[in-house]
Amino acid sequence: MTAPPLLEVREVTKTFGGVIALNRVSFDLHEGEILGIIGPNGSGKTTVVNCITGFVKVSSGTVLYRGKSITGKPPHKIADLGITRTFQIMRPYYSLPAYKNLVIPLFSGRARRTGGWRGGGRLGDRHTVGIDILEDIGFERDSYVPYKTTATLPTGYLKRLELARCLALKPEVILCDEIFSGLSMSEIASMVPLIERLQMDGVTLIMIEHRLRELFRVADRVMVFNFGEKLLEGTADEVMADERVRDAYFGSEAADEVMRHA
Ligand SMILES: Nc1ncnc2c1ncn2[C@@H]1O[C@H](COP(=O)(O)OP(=O)(O)OP(=O)(O)O)[C@@H](O)[C@H]1O
Ligand SMILES: [Mg+2]
Repeated sequence: MTAPPLLEVREVTKTFGGVIALNRVSFDLHEGEILGIIGPNGSGKTTVVNCITGFVKVSSGTVLYRGKSITGKPPHKIADLGITRTFQIMRPYYSLPAYKNLVIPLFSGRARRTGGWRGGGRLGDRHTVGIDILEDIGFERDSYVPYKTTATLPTGYLKRLELARCLALKPEVILCDEIFSGLSMSEIASMVPLIERLQMDGVTLIMIEHRLRELFRVADRVMVFNFGEKLLEGTADEVMADERVRDAYFGSEAADEVMRHA
């Protein structure tokens, strides 16, 4: 027997003026899985995350979480349910020390209820909890990285900080919008085990990525968007073997190259 989906996106359409960013997109996200989303620039990947998390209102269609509609709810209500997201265009508080970026999410109702990532109830000193979360995802406490001014941190740490903001809420779902982009191969190599650990800890993830080889290592299932529509979904092998994906999107040689290294 299969478990009911954690998240159900049903016939979601989003238009911006004359632009159809999403056209009747439907898919399920199952508890515990990592679902990859790939597709060319402008194909609607970020828009689907914005629709799920309430950052934009759907034009039509519904989004269900644990069987209940969350369509049209504001972002803070959706985050309060444990559905969190990272931003493709990061907007941390650059002038603050890194750990202070976590103080605001740690003051949210959900963080107070749950105790935050790995927390056990009361939050106590939020600065300490923030530093603990950062250390847990790779900010070296001994070299004072959590205390460094955010603007001085390399992209690898900024991407981790995006994840840390989610973790502060003890998330059930994290929607990662290009968490690997802008990272070096070694930075990605150190990020992959982190994603795998989140999954082992019970977090369900959607990962939007252009870095296909790295995505295919962690994703249980992949969905392809094209011109605001879901072109297909399947395993990485199934997706890359599909003629429409190979020819229209990558070119067959590029597709073979990706799969050789996946
Ligand atoms: N706030 C907005 N106002 C107007 N048009 C928008 C807005 N957000 C997205 N769009 C348009 O919707 C379409 C889908 O954009 P979206 O950002 O979802 O693409 P994407 O797949 O995430 O692309 P990328 O890979 O470049 O991040 C594009 O044509 C984009 O210009
Ligand atoms: Mg995008």
